[in-house]
Amino acid sequence: MYISRITGLGHYVPENVVTNDDLSKLMDTNDAWIQERTGIKQRRHIKKGDGNSTSVMGVKAATIALERAGLKPEAIDMIVFATLSPDKYFPGGGVEVQEMMGMRTIPALDVRNQCSGFVYSISVADQFIKTGMHKNILVIGSENHSGGLDFTTRGRGVSVIFGDGAGAAVVSRNESGEGGILSTHLHSEGKHKDELVLQGPSTAYWVPEIIENNPQEDIPYYPHMNGTFVFKHAIVRFSEVIQEGLEANDLNVEDIDMLIPHQANLRISQFIQQKMKLPDSKVYNNIQKYGNTTAASIPIALTEAWEEGKIKDGDLIVLAAFGSGFTWGSVIVRW
Ligand code: ACO
Repeated sequence: MYISRITGLGHYVPENVVTNDDLSKLMDTNDAWIQERTGIKQRRHIKKGDGNSTSVMGVKAATIALERAGLKPEAIDMIVFATLSPDKYFPGGGVEVQEMMGMRTIPALDVRNQCSGFVYSISVADQFIKTGMHKNILVIGSENHSGGLDFTTRGRGVSVIFGDGAGAAVVSRNESGEGGILSTHLHSEGKHKDELVLQGPSTAYWVPEIIENNPQEDIPYYPHMNGTFVFKHAIVRFSEVIQEGLEANDLNVEDIDMLIPHQANLRISQFIQQKMKLPDSKVYNNIQKYGNTTAASIPIALTEAWEEGKIKDGDLIVLAAFGSGFTWGSVIVRW
């Protein structure tokens, strides 16, 4: 069995900054409410005509990650692309990236695990590296939320939370023998699938019904979130899956050098931090700047933490996510 390592990181966010005050011009909300409940001050939104899309942002993040890994696109053996907001219903973002980056006819896999998408994707990449099947895998998390949110007062409980952006990581066979991904831990609980959901368009609510209903008030095309329910489950599952990862490696909370939680909501991250008694210096948050970017949030945060010199060789890094499904997971890395 081989060991895998993250050898390159990159991220990209659109230039267009949308503040809480900007949103309050579109709906009945305000900066104080949003900051108090979520910690978010601003987020980035794609602007029509700026050339960005979920796949394009993914490519921009991936280009940086590849460069930092010292690899050309032809060295990549597989793409794993996580998103809940693909450019098209099908095909997925993986093949878009393969084409745009001029890659060989390598496998391109799309992962649909929402906020846990990046953690699931890293786990998939890790398995392919471990078995010796592949040497270099490009993992991308990218989201264009702003194209699909309800920016009227009706949608304010959801639309103020989410932002656009992309992050990427190159996962490679560890040739140096030092550090690497120690373990990954994935879970799901489908009985809560309707608590955070986008019902349509889907095969259960498809084009004929949409045309027939022409619904002005119908909301299945906008995400529905039972916020309080999600919050309660998130804080339990985050803690459980971090603990599971530590125990699998005979490690303790004190061994963590940096926890990078999915940027769901600053209040969720703070709750976990307090529960685990971790100091501020050991939990990385940037949701204040970007909002919740779902599958992109961990790779964006990981990249920024690394760029800021907060991740050093030998550090124990824990990635943890929870999201729609519900799905959740953790990745334990010796950097
Ligand atoms: N601005 C102003 N008022 C608002 C807004 C808004 N943007 N959104 C909702 N409100 C109002 C509601 O209408 C409600 O008014 P009412 O009492 O007159 O009916 C009031 O504020 C309270 O609404 P709640 O939904 O109960 O607000 P809550 O305090 O629960 O906060 C929130 C909502 C922030 C979503 C919270 O439930 C939460 O943090 N949930 C966790 C879910 C989460 O963070 N999800 C992130 C995405 S999922 C993931 O990544 C795992």
